Amino acid sequence: MELHVVILAAGKGSRMKSNLPKVMHEVGNKPMLAHVIDTATELNPAKISVVVGHGSEIVESFVAKNYEQEVVRCVQQKEQLGTGHAVMQAADSISPQEKVLVLYGDVPLIQSNTLETLVNTVSSEDADKAPLGLLTVCLSNPTGYGRILRNEQNQVIGIVEKKDANPEQLNIQEVNTGFMAIPGDFLIEALPKLSNENAQGEFYLTDLVALAEQGGVPILTENPVTATEVEGVNNKLQLANLERCYQRQLAQDLMVAGATLIDPERIDIRGSVQVGMDVFIDANVIFVGDVILQDGVSIGANCIITDSTIGAGSNIQPFTVIEDSVVGSQCNIGPYARLRPNTELKDQAKIGSFVETKKSVVGKGSKVNHLSYVGDAEIGEGVNVGAGTITCNYDGANKYKTVLEDGVFIGSNTALVAPLTVGSGATVGAGSVITKNVENDKLAIARAKQAQISGWERPKKNS
Ligand code: UD1
Ligand code: CA
Repeated sequence: MELHVVILAAGKGSRMKSNLPKVMHEVGNKPMLAHVIDTATELNPAKISVVVGHGSEIVESFVAKNYEQEVVRCVQQKEQLGTGHAVMQAADSISPQEKVLVLYGDVPLIQSNTLETLVNTVSSEDADKAPLGLLTVCLSNPTGYGRILRNEQNQVIGIVEKKDANPEQLNIQEVNTGFMAIPGDFLIEALPKLSNENAQGEFYLTDLVALAEQGGVPILTENPVTATEVEGVNNKLQLANLERCYQRQLAQDLMVAGATLIDPERIDIRGSVQVGMDVFIDANVIFVGDVILQDGVSIGANCIITDSTIGAGSNIQPFTVIEDSVVGSQCNIGPYARLRPNTELKDQAKIGSFVETKKSVVGKGSKVNHLSYVGDAEIGEGVNVGAGTITCNYDGANKYKTVLEDGVFIGSNTALVAPLTVGSGATVGAGSVITKNVENDKLAIARAKQAQISGWERPKKNS
């Protein structure tokens, strides 16, 4: 039986107090809906239908941009008339031969192994009819959830929504998480039978359970591994809480992979981080996108590293910001350095404090130690760029390249006006404004000559 995942994502989420559709709010820098789609994808479904309503243009364009249209498609639910009504919108695409797995777009931390067990309930072989699977949890405070009704034989016979429940039913602690695995043939037959004659005037998907019971469809229940998996988001408080749960999990994964975290509560991973052995990460480091830290890398406090690779043994000192860059092995960067996109540091390069680089290669063992801007530059091996050196790469209209060949020495406070090549082994005197190419091994100096004036007196204050 093929799997068809239906994700309910039409709700407005008024309590988010936001213009953004609820399911587009992010956990770990990724929309909640994307977490759900990605986890569902791990089960290799034939189809994923996302039921959209509020802010559907935003949700639809996100889905179209990030997922294959043959697998993930959106269906409109113009009015939100209940969870059953939401699934009805996908009815055209549901076939009797498939299993349908219903997920919520605002419950982002569900795990694929939990879903796998739930889906497997539908194919239990010893039943004449494929069973319906419910994911339930027992909560000491079940407020707000649909309660699971069982008979004396402990078989599930229905779900009663909080607003329709009597006081006795309200005491039931086993609740409906909303996650359901349903045989397609039963679903097609049962959907038209749902009514909205209840306290909320909605078509409840949960009424399928009583219909299954009446139709002799076995009802099985499974539980998630942790309660966090089935927690939904209705407001910013719950969003922040799930963000922390998610971050805690990622921090644990990193430590299991061998990283030393000075404090697993003070790291943020907004994407993925791969680590080698003996990686050390100090407090308040933020990783964004895909980051690779090879063996023995050390990241100082308060660094932000985005979509970059840091080579083995490199030391990133505090308050360094690195984006879209490749750092070789045994490099030393910061504190307070900024590597902007397309910086490539070869092995043993050194970038010191208050240095900004952009679209540049810094060769093996070369140093840019203090207060410099290196943009659109190609720096060879063993180059020393003195404090306060600026590559003047932009004339207000176009950008130009600076090439410093192997062994070049640039004196402090130099302006290198691009396009420019300084030949290998050449030296530039401090304070120079270099506008023309410098030949190999020459000394270039371009600054006003120092003069000494005798008999000069300082001005005196007027009386
Ligand atoms: C639902 C369940 C309840 C369960 C709870 C778990 C029903 C009738 N009740 O209640 O048993 O304990 O979830 O959180 O199913 N949605 C749509 N279109 C709609 C209505 C809802 O897409 O017309 C989406 C919402 O955006 C949300 C999800 O479905 O993602 C659940 O809807 P919600 O209104 O939160 O259901 P509950 O009343 O919490
Ligand atoms: Ca809810």
